[in-house]
Amino acid sequence: MKIFLTGASGLVGSAFAQAASRRGHHVTGLVGSYAGTVPGVTEKRSLDLTDDAALTAAVLEAFPDAIVNCAAVSEPPQCDADPARAQALNVALPAILARLAHHVSARFVHLSSEQVFDGTNPPYAIQSPTRPINLYARQKLESERLVLAAAPEFAIVLRAPLLTGNSLSGKRSLHERLFADWAAGKAPLVYSDEIRQPCTAANLADVMLELLERNDVRGLYHWAGAEPCSRLELARRIRAHFKLGETAAPLQAVTRAENPKAAAKRQANLTLDLQPLAGKLKTPLETIEAQLDQFIVPPPFREWYFAQA
Ligand SMILES: NC(=O)c1ccc[n+]([C@@H]2O[C@H](COP(=O)([O-])OP(=O)(O)OC[C@H]3O[C@@H](n4cnc5c(N)ncnc54)[C@H](OP(=O)(O)O)[C@@H]3O)[C@@H](O)[C@H]2O)c1
Repeated sequence: MKIFLTGASGLVGSAFAQAASRRGHHVTGLVGSYAGTVPGVTEKRSLDLTDDAALTAAVLEAFPDAIVNCAAVSEPPQCDADPARAQALNVALPAILARLAHHVSARFVHLSSEQVFDGTNPPYAIQSPTRPINLYARQKLESERLVLAAAPEFAIVLRAPLLTGNSLSGKRSLHERLFADWAAGKAPLVYSDEIRQPCTAANLADVMLELLERNDVRGLYHWAGAEPCSRLELARRIRAHFKLGETAAPLQAVTRAENPKAAAKRQANLTLDLQPLAGKLKTPLETIEAQLDQFIVPPPFREWYFAQA
């Protein structure tokens, strides 16, 4: 399959490129500012995805069998800091990609988020009422609607959970950020009463590919890990996994009640109901243990880490 992949340098995009290349697909990988190589990408292109004309030309030139959108402003604080840029990447971009997919008759995979729910009444099924409580979540919800309306016969929209794993920069995912704090001698702040259901970006990428390779799947789906877990518990397990007991600064547990202003924009419990996909795919649901086994010491912090050993 010829796949046009946006966000190839991101946490999910880079995992997807590697999964797709293992399965023999040709991947045209679009990056923004990332200058390094992207393993798994057959052909790397740098493009500002807010340039509609350049994006349209690139899609028409590639004339792909599938478009996979992993580009985004993927963190709520970044959306609040630059709402116009976030709107362009999180809403306008998926809408134009869906129209292009429809135009060239390509399958389209777009990623949404667990954050479309408010976190007060889990577990959330696909049909559960959505109630976004921050700008990022509102944008992801709007993108779902626009994509499914523009390419109903071609689009798969997956709501993903908190994602773990190894990023190209070594500074993107949860364990990598914990390492950044520890290497700087800081005690990371982690919520003890926020529940998420993480899976690795690599596991999500396998699901995206599996759905893409099947010709009978369209519409909106949920995917996540096998186990809901608090952020604090996850951080504790990461710390134990890397045997950082005495050498790194302790975790600072906080509760939502202690930070009411921040909590107003953060969901308490985003456990997802994974029907109808759970148990029906070749890709397994990942336990936390299976995720920990895949984490590597992030390259930017290796020197610090091995000096502790
Ligand atoms: N990470 C999570 O926990 C999580 C959870 C649920 C859903 N999701 C969703 O999953 C998708 C992928 O997220 P992610 O975490 O992999 O994102 P990420 O690591 O933040 O990567 C974002 C990607 O978008 C690209 N990009 C941003 N602005 C661009 C521009 N103007 N032009 C070209 N490329 C641009 C970046 O390219 P450069 O770096 O090269 O500039 C990068 O490749 C998003 O839709 C996100 O909302 C993520």
